[in-house]
Amino acid sequence: MHSAGRILIVDRDRKSRDLVSAFLTYQGYDVIHSENDALIFDTIRDQEVVIVIAELTHLRSIAPAFMEQAKKISPALVLIGHGSNDEKLPHPTHTDSFFFLPQPLNLDELESLVMRAAESQALRLLDTADDNGRHPHKLCSAMIGKSAPMLTLFDMIVKIAESTATVLIQGESGTGKELAARAIHQLSDRSSRNFVPVNCAAIPDDLLESELFGHVKGSFTGAYANRAGRFEMADKGTLFLDEIGDMKPSLQVKILRALQGKEFEPVGSSKPQKVDVRIIAATNKDLEQLVASRDFREDLYYRLSVIPITIPPLRERREDIPLLIHSFLTRFNSDRKHAVKGFSRETLDILCSYGWPGNVRELENLVERVVILKDSGFITPDDLPEKYLAGQTQVQVPPLPATDELPAGGICLNSAVEAFENNLIQQALLRTKGNKKEAAALLKLKRTTLIEKLKKKNLVYSEE
Ligand SMILES: Nc1ncnc2c1ncn2[C@@H]1O[C@H](COP(=O)(O)OP(=O)(O)OP(=O)(O)O)[C@@H](O)[C@H]1O
Ligand SMILES: [Mg+2]
Repeated sequence: MHSAGRILIVDRDRKSRDLVSAFLTYQGYDVIHSENDALIFDTIRDQEVVIVIAELTHLRSIAPAFMEQAKKISPALVLIGHGSNDEKLPHPTHTDSFFFLPQPLNLDELESLVMRAAESQALRLLDTADDNGRHPHKLCSAMIGKSAPMLTLFDMIVKIAESTATVLIQGESGTGKELAARAIHQLSDRSSRNFVPVNCAAIPDDLLESELFGHVKGSFTGAYANRAGRFEMADKGTLFLDEIGDMKPSLQVKILRALQGKEFEPVGSSKPQKVDVRIIAATNKDLEQLVASRDFREDLYYRLSVIPITIPPLRERREDIPLLIHSFLTRFNSDRKHAVKGFSRETLDILCSYGWPGNVRELENLVERVVILKDSGFITPDDLPEKYLAGQTQVQVPPLPATDELPAGGICLNSAVEAFENNLIQQALLRTKGNKKEAAALLKLKRTTLIEKLKKKNLVYSEE
């Protein structure tokens, strides 16, 4: 698993193929070759290939219709060839899933295209209908997920949005309850009116009533003018009662009355006010238990839970983790103008097996933190805070194949030298089990020079 997805290299020139493969593997990408050219489409399907890097002439010879099919099959294509001389090639401007790289090969340019291809593929993945032809993310735009429980949730949200019934959203902290509430509102025919959130836990008790129902001028010290409450602000829209489990019993009675009669009295007024609000309530507490312990009114509980939904914790839908990581990474990279390429395979494995007690919010915060601290390259396990590594063993990157011949299409000397240098450094580190002093000695470098190089190159290495 890798946050950029798997890359298939199709090139009959073994040396050039090995070089590209070594270079990208070294950068942290998940790279495979097609052993049998005739099976290229099977490989793409079976190995869940996301990006195909191919030498154009060779690709044409083994799969003449490939270019025409490129739109239908899902991987992005990075083609290497003599673009300006090839009239059959689409104009070498880059489209969403097609990237062209002229010969001679420049590995830096190749990598930047691979990054763009990975980016477009991730967007496409978010854009793709699932097996039943639904477009969940389009319906619940900000909610990301492709796991079975999330697809079920998306379906429910769509249905719920059609009605005006009261919804109770339960789920652990950070699972996306507010996001779900907003999605319901956005999909409903109330979307052009207000979505009004009230955090029942954050407003002081003595202000909550006026906050919800408003007050009339002079009703209490400081009430200098009439003021609309949240119920009134949400008229014809949606009122989101968040942290409902933390509401004082006295207010529970008043909320119940407002829900039952669809009317309420502002503080200091005896004139009831009518409103048309759709109520969505949320809590991370176990309301049934609060009812049992008499901390929450049973009648209010039944009134609220006409449609109960529960958002599963992240640990029960781990297949959403890479998708969420990618989406947060894209957002934070763009917010901070950083160019973090992705998460290395090892890092992603660690994060996919972590327990996530703080759920999606914790994951979002982690991605923000690593993007702040790192502005380019891949995130490696070294970049993670200690707690995510507990119980993990060191993972090492496999050694690279050597390149000693000039590929048929020529080569960019600088990138090749760089890849060669990286290869030797990596071998030295592997041989010394990550001991930088010994590795530096093997390479006849000062230890500090080696450390500097590792930092500059953003290389993955293992500590002793
Ligand atoms: N499925 C999702 N896709 C994308 N972002 C998500 C998803 N679920 C949650 N988030 C993000 O995680 C953060 C927490 O979500 P939200 O505030 O909706 O959680 P919550 O359940 O209300 O948490 P709490 O119980 O702590 O109030 C938000 O920044 C939200 O955008
Ligand atoms: Mg919340």
